[in-house]
Amino acid sequence: SIEKDEESFQRYRERISTLPKERGWKITNHPLCQYEGFWYRSAYGLEGVMFAQEHFKARPSDVFLCSTPKSGTTWLKAIIFAITKRTYYTNSTHPILTNNPHEIVPILESKLFREPPVANVESLPSPRLLATHISYTSLPMSVLGSGCRIVYICRNPKDVLVSMWKICIWTVLGPCARVLECPERVFFITYEEMKRDTLVHVKRLAKFLGKPFSLEEESKGVAEEIVEMCSFESLSNLEVNKNGSSKTGLKNSVYFREGKVGGWRNHLTTQMIESLDRVTNEKLPGIF
Ligand code: A3P
Repeated sequence: SIEKDEESFQRYRERISTLPKERGWKITNHPLCQYEGFWYRSAYGLEGVMFAQEHFKARPSDVFLCSTPKSGTTWLKAIIFAITKRTYYTNSTHPILTNNPHEIVPILESKLFREPPVANVESLPSPRLLATHISYTSLPMSVLGSGCRIVYICRNPKDVLVSMWKICIWTVLGPCARVLECPERVFFITYEEMKRDTLVHVKRLAKFLGKPFSLEEESKGVAEEIVEMCSFESLSNLEVNKNGSSKTGLKNSVYFREGKVGGWRNHLTTQMIESLDRVTNEKLPGIF
């Protein structure tokens, strides 16, 4: 009931008030808050993370897109939706053409469970496509235990940093290393690989999601169409993404800046590059 949820959220807020804090970026004016070894922006919706941990029941058929903000979440949301629902829509009626990908694949903790009344995720039909920025260590137990599929996208922290001027770099590095330990249930991909060989990885992803492209689809170029529909150029030029905004008032265009690899070269000082490389090489050796 909503009263019970209110009580839970009150409990989470009390817990959050006791967690270690650090000053965040001045521009956002929100402290960072450490929870289970991982730094969150305090405004992010840590209550939702806690609610998910206590209440979310994963199904084996669920697909979870896990990422750090600014690492290609919007893009992968569009691709995963397009792959798994491809038999339901024709090109002209496709929801991706008229909805921002964040409306189609919601973030569990900050959209569905942000505050009471929380969304009734039990009523969603299978397979549920959900996204999360929760660190691997704090994912609800049922996600790890259910055998559901996890797609994990990760991006060079230097580009994440430039892209996410709102978030401190510490939020980038926690989850990846752990995810790498259980590769059979996790589709691990970097933004850079995705940019380099989009078609190859869209086909691999379709296989992983249990929806491989058939020979007939191969000959019709269905995967190519998905790549094209979800490309930066196509998505960013849709009316909904150029001029639309979410219910909270955030402009959809914020999710589409330049969509390139290596933009950090124009923004970071040598000293920043060195210190970021040091942390990245320690936490994610050999990936970037
Ligand atoms: P830049 O700021 O470097 O351009 P997220 O979706 O996780 O918030 O990540 C946002 C980043 O992904 C932004 O990077 C954005 O431009 C880029 N992006 C959004 N849609 C994309 C697409 N279809 N293809 C490639 N990159 C995309």
